[in-house]
Amino acid sequence: MEQRATALFVLFLSLFLDFSSSQNYVLNDKDGLGRVFDGIGGLSGGGATSRLLVNYAEPYRSQILDYLFKPNFGASLHILKVEIGGDAQTTDGTEPSHMHYENDQNYFRGYEWWLMKEAKKRNPNITLIGLPWAFPGWVGNGKNWPYDFPDITAAYVVNWILGAKQYHDLDIEYVGIWNERSYNSKYIKLLRYTLDKSGLERVRIIASDNLWEPITLSLMLDPELNRAVDVIGAHYPGTNTVMEALKTQKKLWSSEDYSTFNDEVGGGCWARILNQNYVNGLMTATISWNLVASYYEELPFGRDGLMTAEEPWSGNYVVESPIWITAHTTQFSQPGWSYLQTVGHLAQGGSYVALTDRKGNLTVVIETMTHDHSVCIRPPLLPFNVTAQNATFQLKGSFVSIKELQVWRSQFNFKTKKPSFFEKLTPLKLSDGTFTLNLAEDEVYTLTTVKTGQKGSYPNPPPSARFPKVYKDDFNVRTPPFSEAPDFADQTGVFEYYVNLTDPGPHVFTLRQVLTQRPVTWATDADQTISVIGDYQWQNVTVTCDVFMEKVKTGGVFIAARVDKGGQSVRSAKGVFFWVFADGTYKVTNDLAGQTVLAEGQSGTRAYGWHTLSLTVQGQYASGKLNGYPLWKKAVVLTPKNGWAAIGTHSYELAQFDNFAVEADK
Ligand SMILES: *[C@@H]1O[C@H](CO)[C@@H](O)[C@H](O)[C@H]1NC(C)=O
Ligand SMILES: *[C@@H]1O[C@H](CO)[C@@H](O)[C@H](O)[C@H]1NC(C)=O
Ligand SMILES: *[C@@H]1O[C@H](CO)[C@@H](O)[C@H](O)[C@H]1NC(C)=O
Ligand SMILES: *[C@@H]1O[C@H](CO)[C@@H](O)[C@H](O)[C@H]1NC(C)=O
Ligand SMILES: *[C@@H]1O[C@H](CO)[C@@H](O)[C@H](O)[C@H]1NC(C)=O
Ligand SMILES: *[C@@H]1O[C@H](CO)[C@@H](O)[C@H](O)[C@H]1NC(C)=O
Repeated sequence: MEQRATALFVLFLSLFLDFSSSQNYVLNDKDGLGRVFDGIGGLSGGGATSRLLVNYAEPYRSQILDYLFKPNFGASLHILKVEIGGDAQTTDGTEPSHMHYENDQNYFRGYEWWLMKEAKKRNPNITLIGLPWAFPGWVGNGKNWPYDFPDITAAYVVNWILGAKQYHDLDIEYVGIWNERSYNSKYIKLLRYTLDKSGLERVRIIASDNLWEPITLSLMLDPELNRAVDVIGAHYPGTNTVMEALKTQKKLWSSEDYSTFNDEVGGGCWARILNQNYVNGLMTATISWNLVASYYEELPFGRDGLMTAEEPWSGNYVVESPIWITAHTTQFSQPGWSYLQTVGHLAQGGSYVALTDRKGNLTVVIETMTHDHSVCIRPPLLPFNVTAQNATFQLKGSFVSIKELQVWRSQFNFKTKKPSFFEKLTPLKLSDGTFTLNLAEDEVYTLTTVKTGQKGSYPNPPPSARFPKVYKDDFNVRTPPFSEAPDFADQTGVFEYYVNLTDPGPHVFTLRQVLTQRPVTWATDADQTISVIGDYQWQNVTVTCDVFMEKVKTGGVFIAARVDKGGQSVRSAKGVFFWVFADGTYKVTNDLAGQTVLAEGQSGTRAYGWHTLSLTVQGQYASGKLNGYPLWKKAVVLTPKNGWAAIGTHSYELAQFDNFAVEADK
């Protein structure tokens, strides 16, 4: 029975397939070209995803930046999109706003300015995009909504673009509305008007960084809105668009995509969508969330970046496969090139795209990623089959006389676990304008007339190491131009370097929590502020810190150990939290929200005076000291067993921290 079935199968194959033959694909520009290519990019922020990058020592920090941005070296990105910091939790942390308060403007906070300048230094042509996730509380006038006073919101966003130019000589080319949240037509028109009025006619608007619908419908119904918006940006489109979006004739972008763990399957996801976002959805730009995984890995979506740089203390970083997959497109085509109309799927699965500079250069990118080796985090991927195949490409039109193509190949080799990425093969000689490739599963090829491609490299970075067990920061030594202390990852609130020149003593340079109002949020910020630091595996630690409350009567601050959650889940963080309050009391709680009290009593603490807190957690017991004297001891802590150290405040209130120190698991 089985034999007969096999025999029939072979008969079937020999009738319908010819093993030695090959499927033909024509690459032709005779009947015109496809859409103009706008580039491949990375997204820093949304939120705080580059937090740890800035704390790398040289030369490692520059090496990482080279792998991301340097032309003809690594990912050679065409686009850098950044979060316009809005003071609120936006996935993996908060990013500071340029206007914490209505009468405040400062264009030197955070690290996005620095990152944009570093990118521009390497690639002066890089396209810069800004997008808000959240807004400071005053923009919403106390409401969790930025559109009640659209003129204020527009002015706030335009200030950021003006500040980029005035203080950093950065030209922001595109600006968005409100990441993955509601848009408002009146606001978008007002933003266009405010940009124009400010001499920023060149800045173009992307909307709405969410689904294709309903912005497409709004554009079709409202001619003025249609004039205001230049690009329809959709998130995680699963390589597809909708008919109505195509009808608008607007540029269609996958303005946020990827978000997948950056192992080889992540690289496969990226390879598939980079090609198929155009083949299936005519999207002319794809932007990866995120640019570089530079945040504590235990925060949400750990390692969902093009490469990994999450250990500034060791200098270790990892150039992951998505970097080389990006290079297959970015090193051989530039924004302004055109896709050919002759792009598509391969007969036995996979896809090919072709691009030209319209001056004779041709770049073809082919991928044969199988389903299970190219699953992205979202949306669900319908089944499809890819098998090994021969593919013959025929160059026609202005490409007919091309005599040689450079060949670059990546092989994922999932079976042998010995992948090879972005390997330069012997150039192909063409005699009659055709070439045949013997394609295996899970491969990416670039064939191109462009000869400038390079697989950049540096000597191996230092080996991976855990966060130091003994760590101290007195906040006196500062690395310009950053406003944040190294390795502190703000999860609610904003903690900034502060200088009190009138302080006669040792607290001139401190770290200060500066928010006094809940922001217009994107995720669910906690009601308390908190910044985490250290090693998530830490169990037995002593955390010591000088604290200074600036809110009288109801103010409060804490130091903590074993903090087990951050990012979007920060509200439900557990750990051991040692609080002192301005009303002269203390509390020890098992959670950030303060629901589970382990100990409490009198402390004599008050606002506008410095106090030294010390918290020791050992096994199942915790104890605390105030100004060097035991205040409470033997509080029983069953869970969590491990987590980060942290500092924070009881509400959105000003408070300062100094002489932070941890000793862990000695
Ligand atoms: C920037 O773009 C210009 C014009 O397209 C081009 O001539 C130049 O080579 C590009 N520079 C870099 C560094 O890519
Ligand atoms: C292709 O691009 C290169 C620069 O990468 C340029 O020197 C060359 O003239 C272009 N045209 C052709 C047909 O290769
Ligand atoms: C993939 O191939 C398998 C085995 O040949 C077949 O059963 C299945 O229907 C195919 N799936 C698709 C989506 O073509
Ligand atoms: C591709 O063509 C070669 C001959 O050039 C043949 O040996 C091979 O079996 C073909 N592969 C497939 C998958 O058809
Ligand atoms: C600055 O230091 C002075 C002198 O110690 C103190 O009175 C004042 O409260 C401090 N202000 C702030 C905001 O820290
Ligand atoms: C923490 O302390 C407990 C009790 O003293 C001990 O059992 C445990 O092994 C310690 N953990 C580490 C990581 O040292």
